[in-house]
Amino acid sequence: MRDALLQRARELDAADPLAGFRDRFMLPDGVIYLDGNSLGALPKETPSRLECVIRGEWGEGLIRSWNSADWIGMTRSIGAKIAPLVGANPNEVIACDSTSVNLFKLIAAALEMRPGRKVILSEPGNFPTDLYMIAGLERQGLAQRRLADRGKLAEALDADVALLLLTHVHYKTGEMHDMAALTKAAHDAGALVLWDLSHSGGALPVDLNACEADFAVGCGYKYLNGGPGAPAYAFVAERHHEAVHQPLTGWFGHEVPFAFSDDYSPAPGIDRLQCGTPPILGLAALEVGVDLVAEIGVDRLARKSRALSEFFLEVLGEWGLDLELVSPLDSAARGSQLSFRHPEAYAICQALIGRGVIGDFRDPDILRLGFAPAYLRFEDMAEAARHLVEVHANGEWQNPEFNQRAAVT
Ligand SMILES: Cc1ncc(COP(=O)(O)O)c(C=O)c1O
Repeated sequence: MRDALLQRARELDAADPLAGFRDRFMLPDGVIYLDGNSLGALPKETPSRLECVIRGEWGEGLIRSWNSADWIGMTRSIGAKIAPLVGANPNEVIACDSTSVNLFKLIAAALEMRPGRKVILSEPGNFPTDLYMIAGLERQGLAQRRLADRGKLAEALDADVALLLLTHVHYKTGEMHDMAALTKAAHDAGALVLWDLSHSGGALPVDLNACEADFAVGCGYKYLNGGPGAPAYAFVAERHHEAVHQPLTGWFGHEVPFAFSDDYSPAPGIDRLQCGTPPILGLAALEVGVDLVAEIGVDRLARKSRALSEFFLEVLGEWGLDLELVSPLDSAARGSQLSFRHPEAYAICQALIGRGVIGDFRDPDILRLGFAPAYLRFEDMAEAARHLVEVHANGEWQNPEFNQRAAVT
């Protein structure tokens, strides 16, 4: 059976228009990497680009590179490159800070734009940082958190809600929200909407402006392959550029930072989302990842992502493994991942990693496998599924070494 499945996988790889892009990434031999939804793989071009920025622009150019290499413009120029990946205009996206910090800025800004309303509506089980970022504003008496289950969000949108805050593709289950419908429902209730695109940006088509979204944020280190701790991005629809005031009023968000004025005056447009000096090395690495995603094209990536995960499920089925799938069965309703529930998910995940199949575990019982379509092959699907079947069947995961929890799971 293994040979027949591998044969089919290789035929699919031979017909895959994206197959050549795998070679643009550095992937260790013997590893099947199913965690690009957590940390994207390293583009081969990144080390030489960083070398150039470090030796040439920093080493030789020194401080002059803020102007000569346009370091000063990188947050905006990289934001403009991310924009088409998420259905935004180039002047509506900026690459800066972390997703958490950008969430804070935009939640606070939304509260100010909806005076008299304090409620931030989200769902239980949203990514922790999205929920925690409301807490700081709650402590200051500025916000009030309300959580409603999927399916009950529309009815929880009343006249107290300032902002609907949701993650487009759920980090644990991979379920995708209907961005257009929920944005409309929020607007009908007089609320604004902030979408966390961490698990969709760069992997699936996102059309913020077609949905009339107000705000969005997203990670640079997942599907954008920007490297560990890469700068994140923030989107503000152009119609809000004058009205949006974020609370982290650092000098890089000032209209003329180098006027060194005593008084803060926000920059026009998306620039006012900036706070302090941007991390140039991180931005340089992010730019390589973003360029690569743009070159491949989000539509093609999404098509392949669906094909990969469908094939993975098909192979599991052929082997007769019936695990509890918590992701939607319909590939159009999920992001680029499959999540399975199992009481021993942690140990199974570790046993897979022991075999070179790298996925991750999300507490308390989720085995999460991400299918970054830019560099995965159908052959990887066939082999990863076989490893999962074997680990499950032979009880390999019962080895005590696979139950020792590391700090990062
Ligand atoms: C939905 C979502 N939002 C935000 C983050 C992370 O935010 P930060 O980069 O600030 O740690 C993650 C990380 O996995 C995430 O899944």
